[in-house]
Amino acid sequence: MPEQLQKPDDRPASTTTLRPPPVIWLTGLSGAGKSTIAAALQPLLRARGVGAVRLDGDEVRKGLNRGLGFSAEDRHENIRRIAHIARLLNEQGMVAIVAVVSPLQALRDLARSIVGPSYHEVFVHAPLEVCERRDPKGMYARARQGAIARFTGVSDIFEAPANPALTVDTSSCDVSAAVQQIMASLEGTAPTRTLHQ
Ligand SMILES: Nc1ncnc2c1ncn2[C@@H]1O[C@H](COP(=O)(O)OP(=O)(O)OP(=O)(O)O)[C@@H](O)[C@H]1O
Ligand SMILES: [Mg+2]
Repeated sequence: MPEQLQKPDDRPASTTTLRPPPVIWLTGLSGAGKSTIAAALQPLLRARGVGAVRLDGDEVRKGLNRGLGFSAEDRHENIRRIAHIARLLNEQGMVAIVAVVSPLQALRDLARSIVGPSYHEVFVHAPLEVCERRDPKGMYARARQGAIARFTGVSDIFEAPANPALTVDTSSCDVSAAVQQIMASLEGTAPTRTLHQ
């Protein structure tokens, strides 16, 4: 059994716990599948007896981060706050599943430095044309019409992650395969990263 998976004594043999719990940071273009994967991952973790919470960029921007836009400063502040919440939850034993575009390496480095060794970055990747074809929220269409300024992939940049723990290509696998890849990467990874503090 991998080091990060330990069976608690008082649980059925089929139930496992991720120790220490990770912060699963899902980064990628709009429409790549971050929210879909986060929603599928959460019940799977819970079924294993692991407390898991989702922090979805769209939801956080409606409440806690309402008022933040998409300037460089606001994107930084958005990520800084989400990373701190993830860390707080994580320090109290929860798996935090973060689904947020986090388009720049500097933003992901910030998140990594705040979260610490539990940070487990997953690049949820699909080519721009695939994301644009999916366009689940109609955002690409609006961005192409010029109705949304600074839309990542259209009028703002997305830097591919330099050192993700895992890249999942959602253009070549279904949601359940993507989730299985993430579970496998968690089970095989001891969080021993050097911090960028
Ligand atoms: N393997 C896959 N994993 C995830 N989603 C997939 C996959 N294959 C197809 N899809 C579809 O792609 C779309 C992804 O939309 P989703 O809202 O999850 O993207 P997102 O990355 O959260 O975007 P945003 O940054 O705008 O919130 C959904 O319609 C989903 O059904
Ligand atoms: Mg989403």
